[in-house]
Amino acid sequence: MNMRAAVLRGQSLSMPIECVAIDEPRADEVLVRVVATGICHTDIKVAMVPGLSPRPIVLGHEGAGVVEKVGANVRKLSVGDHVVLTFDSCGQCPTCVSGKPSYCYEVAAVCFGGKRLDGSTTLTCNHEAVHGNFFGQSSFATHAIANERNAIRVRKDAPLELLGPLGCGLQTGAGAVLNSLRLGAGQTIAVFGTGAVGLAAVMAARIAGASKIFAIDIAPERLALAGELGATHVINGAHEDALAAILAQTGRGVDFSLDTTAVEAVTRQAIECVGPLGTCGLIANKGPTQTVPVNILGAMLRGRSVRGIVQGDSVPDIFIPRLVDFFMEGRFPFDRLVRFYDFEAIDEAMHDAETGAAIKPVLRMGPSTL
Ligand SMILES: NC(=O)c1ccc[n+]([C@@H]2O[C@H](COP(=O)([O-])OP(=O)(O)OC[C@H]3O[C@@H](n4cnc5c(N)ncnc54)[C@H](O)[C@@H]3O)[C@@H](O)[C@H]2O)c1
Ligand SMILES: [Zn+2]
Ligand SMILES: [Zn+2]
Repeated sequence: MNMRAAVLRGQSLSMPIECVAIDEPRADEVLVRVVATGICHTDIKVAMVPGLSPRPIVLGHEGAGVVEKVGANVRKLSVGDHVVLTFDSCGQCPTCVSGKPSYCYEVAAVCFGGKRLDGSTTLTCNHEAVHGNFFGQSSFATHAIANERNAIRVRKDAPLELLGPLGCGLQTGAGAVLNSLRLGAGQTIAVFGTGAVGLAAVMAARIAGASKIFAIDIAPERLALAGELGATHVINGAHEDALAAILAQTGRGVDFSLDTTAVEAVTRQAIECVGPLGTCGLIANKGPTQTVPVNILGAMLRGRSVRGIVQGDSVPDIFIPRLVDFFMEGRFPFDRLVRFYDFEAIDEAMHDAETGAAIKPVLRMGPSTL
């Protein structure tokens, strides 16, 4: 079947929309008509940094759409189901079988390899193989092949064209708080960086009943939004020493912190602001060689932990429908972060994601249904 997809051929944020042929779904796969797809900073990183994924490739990993075909062995989904597409995982390695699929041993192959695990590609353009399967979806396209595992059924009364970002950025921030750190009522958290990931963490901390939620950024309009979404203290790191401000308000530091900036001086503050037996979660990085120094005595005396977090430790079949429920109840108003673009304006949307002009750009594949 022919469809339209944004094909990336070089190191660039520009992806011309081309006519691409997409495979039939195999036994464990589904074909999804993409309604809309979010843009995440990982799309930007893969587009700009050589070596992370092969070329030509169709990126996009926050798709939402409608199931059009199901493979012979698919049990979880039916034609017509509304789905959010999330990260893929192998389903068989020790982390997958123990319910932590975001740490799948095969993550490099299934999310970044551009092929099925058997080496085949799902896409071709004028008989040239095009890499698909990016995060098991490649959803910068009108249609996507996903594995049954990474297509998550969602309720039909929710606005489908909004839901794609739940598949990565929003699940990451919210899951970091609710699944990874397991913040409890009355505890405190500092969230460094208030982009889509950080703001999802702020909203989740409010849902969990945090007593103090510090939001730190250098963009005043993002800090204002963080205040509206639940932050009890907003700190502009360009003008204020965030570490000193947090210690002044808490005495011994916060129970939890998250770094979503990957700015080394900020990451250090995120570690240093954690009090006794607290945990700092690291969500962002600038590449495989980035490091930050850690004060060993400070960490030791406080019993402080520092841990990495991928996709908020989500079990997507459980967590994404839960986030949709929170949204429908008005407790997780992530629509405040979203700016819609037509698919044809993908270059503008990528640019606005990169500059920060839009917090969460979402590409609409057809006319709005909102
Ligand atoms: N670990 C995962 O599973 C996972 C999943 C999705 C995204 N990510 C990563 O998380 C990161 C955040 O994603 P996002 O979509 O929220 O991006 P974003 O760029 O919108 O958010 C980062 C925020 O940090 C702020 N910032 C920059 N410099 C700062 C400074 N010196 N002090 C304070 N704040 C500063 C920016 O103003 C921005 O608001 C990205 O690096 C992304 O690749 C990780
Ligand atoms: Zn992402
Ligand atoms: Zn696995």
